This record gives sequence, structure tokens and C-alpha cells, in this order.
Amino acid sequence: ILIRTPNTNTDKAPYDHFMLKEIHEQPGVIRNTINQFISCESVEFACDANLFKSLTHLTIVGSGSSYMAGLIAKYWLESIANIRVLLSIASEFRYHRMQISENDVFLFISQSGETADTLAALRHAKRQNGTVISLTNVPRNSMENISDIALKISQDRKCVVAQSTYKQLFEALQCMAQHASEALVTSIEPVADLILHYNRVIIMGRGTCYGVALEAALKIRELSYIHTIGIASGELKHGSIALVDESLPVVAIAPYNETFTKNLVSIQEVSARKGMVVAFTDGKGARKLKHLCKAIVELPETNAFSLPIVYTIAAQLLAYRIAVKKGLDADQPRNLAKSVTVE
Ligand code: G6P
Repeated sequence: ILIRTPNTNTDKAPYDHFMLKEIHEQPGVIRNTINQFISCESVEFACDANLFKSLTHLTIVGSGSSYMAGLIAKYWLESIANIRVLLSIASEFRYHRMQISENDVFLFISQSGETADTLAALRHAKRQNGTVISLTNVPRNSMENISDIALKISQDRKCVVAQSTYKQLFEALQCMAQHASEALVTSIEPVADLILHYNRVIIMGRGTCYGVALEAALKIRELSYIHTIGIASGELKHGSIALVDESLPVVAIAPYNETFTKNLVSIQEVSARKGMVVAFTDGKGARKLKHLCKAIVELPETNAFSLPIVYTIAAQLLAYRIAVKKGLDADQPRNLAKSVTVE
């Protein structure tokens, strides 16, 4: 099964960089992608319904940002479709040495469809008769497609999803593009000005925001060459807290949702050790966090599905602004290729 997402054109005008253009294209890409699958009353997804009926587990494989998209999809697929999701970094996939049969279903995510590690992993799964789904083609919109899949699998599997929950999910998909547009106007300059002076940064998040933290760290690393690591907030105390002092900014991805109370504890741990905390949060979170933070990026309140997209877009803008302020070329980070065609 090949799921193709709509491609976009290759002219960067009126933006200074392709990266900024691609960030701004995301609401439109989300809208187009979702519109392929969504009708007025239901979500349609053209593939073999039998495939999903008996599905108990799914393995998601990708590299770089595609892996992070898979990580976020894991939370959605497990909570909505009740499917256990395993994750694998593409370059590590073959070393797991798992026994694969046709009952094993794999979702390979690759924006370009050309990443050598991902292709090698895909071939490895196919050689052993695994069932393969590929999600490919458009920059940074894989997550929305997976959300569609999650809904459809949930229907096919006759999971106990209350009608009201289904309605909520459906409405969430419909307003995702709007939420992404709102994220584009995030006031990011003050935080970019703050962070560009540091050599190392920790970004932490919980739940789907763990995936956001990893993606934010990757983007800041690759664009601005600041040594940035992304961690699960709960892992802070298991090692990374040893790094914290006044020379280390910690960016907490901390929306006011069910993860907030636990994130608050992690933020307090950083603050107590004189670490500088920058929070990505919403209005309610900002009120609770302002006394602990050096700066706050305030984002719109949203539903659980738009949330990682809104926060990721804000993080992409931050990475972009830091790079530009440092005089770096956001479109051509050193040593990097857009598509990595070697393993
Ligand atoms: C490269 C890029 C990353 C990208 C990764 C996977 O390393 O620098 O930004 O996430 O490839 O690309 P793919 O096309 O497979 O999603």
C-alpha cells in the first residue's frame, strides 16, 4: 500500500528561505491531505479493510523527523485504535532480528521516499513477507495522515470508541489546518534572541510532546549547530539533570493538559538548580509557570490532535529564527543532505 501525500511547488518566493516557505505551507498541506480522506460525515481511507480488522500490533519505521512523526502517531494509534505500536529507527531495524510473517504490518514513514536506511528496512520487511504500508511524499505532513489511519483502523476494528469521541476526533481533524495557521503567528523572536547565545540546550516533553521535544531538538541542532538534546520530561531526573546549571537553557514543552502537573515538577527541578526555563505552553499554563520561567512562548489552546502540530510548528519557527539570527543558511545546513541516499 502506498499512501502519497500531495506535493508542493519548488519556488520559495515570497519567503527568504525554503524552510520558512515549507513551514508556512503546512496548514494548506494538512488541509489538502485530510480532504483526500474526509467526507462530510466520515473518514474514508482507500485500503483493504481486512488488513486492519485483525491487527494487534504495528511497527512504525522511519529516520529523522519521520521517526518523530511515528513516535507521535504511536500515542494516537494506541489510544484510539487500540493497536500496540512498536517503533524502530530505520537504520536499527534489521538488527532487531525479529521474526517477521505476513501477519506483521509495518508502516514506513519517509517524506522523500528515498532515504536509504528506510528503504533498506522496508526491503528487509518485504523479503520476509511482512505487510508494508508506506507514507511518503510531502514535507512534514505525515502525522496528519496517520491520524486518518488511526480513525479508520478504529472503525474497522470496531473498537469501543463512543460516538461522542468519534465526533470529537472528526472535528479535531477538520480544524487541524486552522490550528496550524494560528501557530504560524507565534511570537518567537524574544526566545530566539535568548537561546542563540547558548551552546547547549535541553528540550523536554511528555506524551505526544515527547515527540515534539525530539523534533525541536533535531531542528535546532541541524540548523543552528547548538548542541540540543530532546528528552522525555520524566527522564530528566535519570541523568540529564546532572547537566543543569545557569549555562543551560531547558525548553519545556508543557501545554496545560493531563501531563502538566508532572511537567511542572520537572520544571521546578530545573529552576531549583538555577537552570533557565523557557516554556512552550498555552494561556492557562503560562499563568502557572510565569514565576518559574525566563520566557514563555504562548500558544493557542487546542485539542489533543492539533497540539503536537501546533507546538512543532512553533519549534520549527524557533529553530529557523535562531539560524537566521546566527547568520546561518537554514536551507543548507552544513554536512546535511535533504535525502540521505547512503546507509
Ligand atoms: C535527512 C533529513 C531529515 C529527514 C531524514 C528522513 O536526514 O536531513 O530532515 O527527517 O532525512 O527523511 P525522509 O525523507 O525519509 O523522511
